[in-house]
Amino acid sequence: MAREVTFTFNGEAATAIIEDHWTLLYLIREGLGFNGTKEGCGGGECGACTVIVDGAAVNSCLYLAAEIDGKDLVTIEGLAVDDGTLHPVQEAFVEKGGIQCGFCSPGMIMSAKALLDENPNASEAEIKHSIAGNICRCTGYVQIIDAIKAVSGAYPEEAEEPMAAWDGHDGAVEE
Ligand code: FES
Ligand code: FES
Repeated sequence: MAREVTFTFNGEAATAIIEDHWTLLYLIREGLGFNGTKEGCGGGECGACTVIVDGAAVNSCLYLAAEIDGKDLVTIEGLAVDDGTLHPVQEAFVEKGGIQCGFCSPGMIMSAKALLDENPNASEAEIKHSIAGNICRCTGYVQIIDAIKAVSGAYPEEAEEPMAAWDGHDGAVEE
């Protein structure tokens, strides 16, 4: 059955007509046409599809699109500012070499962002826990953890641009 859902998508009010069986991942990629969120396993195992719903990182492949009604959805496209300035977490992944093929990167970055929004001074153990559901087949994880540490206030000596100082705005997507 088709139904209408209204929600906030990357900072903007959004409405979509969805089918009951659609996943949130399908809505994002096929319904809304935003392809930054990746589909890896399609079964909750790899984290490539991670987005942020009401502040929490979720696997969009396991999340029914109908459940997004009334909620706040942020995808990787919502992080950089309109002038192209990257979010500090994105910048840190570039600076620390946390990206090789890039397939896992949107999910990793969304998991890290959800953690640091909640806990700007995350420890290494907390960082590792936050990305425990995100699989990377390329980097060996060391550079990814280094990147997240670089924006955590728990590591001020590494924080070239700590996320706590971020004055960009999450969510703006130009229509
Ligand atoms: Fe969703 Fe792998 S595609 S967890
Ligand atoms: Fe290739 Fe992580 S950079 S899967």
